Amino acid sequence: MGEESEARIGERVYTFLRGEGEEGREMCVTIPEVLDCQYGMYVWPCAVVLAQYLWCHRKDLPNKRVLEVGAGVSLPGVLAAKCGAKVILSDSAELPQCLENCRRSCNWNNITGVPVVGLTWGEISPELLDLPPIDIILGSDVFYEPKDFEDILLTVRFLMERTPRAEFWTTYQVRSADWSIEALLCKWNLKCTGVPLKTFGADRECLAGSELPGRHTVQMMIITLDREAAGCTA
Ligand SMILES: C[S@@+](CC[C@H](N)C(=O)[O-])C[C@H]1O[C@@H](n2cnc3c(N)ncnc32)[C@H](O)[C@@H]1O
Repeated sequence: MGEESEARIGERVYTFLRGEGEEGREMCVTIPEVLDCQYGMYVWPCAVVLAQYLWCHRKDLPNKRVLEVGAGVSLPGVLAAKCGAKVILSDSAELPQCLENCRRSCNWNNITGVPVVGLTWGEISPELLDLPPIDIILGSDVFYEPKDFEDILLTVRFLMERTPRAEFWTTYQVRSADWSIEALLCKWNLKCTGVPLKTFGADRECLAGSELPGRHTVQMMIITLDREAAGCTA
């Protein structure tokens, strides 16, 4: 990236506070944001909410194999890596700037060993086939274009075929009451559980020192394989 582009990069710091008795007072994640109107160039409110969920479950993360899809600037994935998960970041194979954002976010947080791969939802590509088994898939604000909903679930379902106990942790912004993934979940033998924001301290306008969640209506759900419907015996 040239000097001119670098000048368009700003910085936001997200601060997650530790509880009493834990070592250190806080964990900070610094996210470089590009001054550009493309979707994957900056942090979306959903990302702060998903990061808060990860922070709340940080004790479960060490050594978990985590893949973030549609990562953009990757706040949740970077936090997961800082909490000890083995993270892979991904965004559309057709958006190299977004893949560059994933790499830059790792660099700015001194994280090494996090592969960044181009994964376009719905495509069974060599990159998807090459992934190791994944325990947790992260997706923050990926359900924002109804035309993509089935492709996202197809990618998730493909990964769960290999690892039936994998979970898809995802946050979405309520943009239209008419949008639903219910029929698609049924079609792909998936099921979903809503996670109330108050159960992980995200029912606030300000999270991790950021006012980004504000008054946006963000919700969290966990999608898993409906093992009975999928005829899973493992
Ligand atoms: C609304 S942004 C959310 C970015 C980030 N997850 C966040 O919450 O801050 C949607 C992200 O999905 C990515 N994306 C869009 N279409 C995609 C596709 N077909 N396959 C994979 N990623 C895609 C975009 O590049 C962008 O990073």
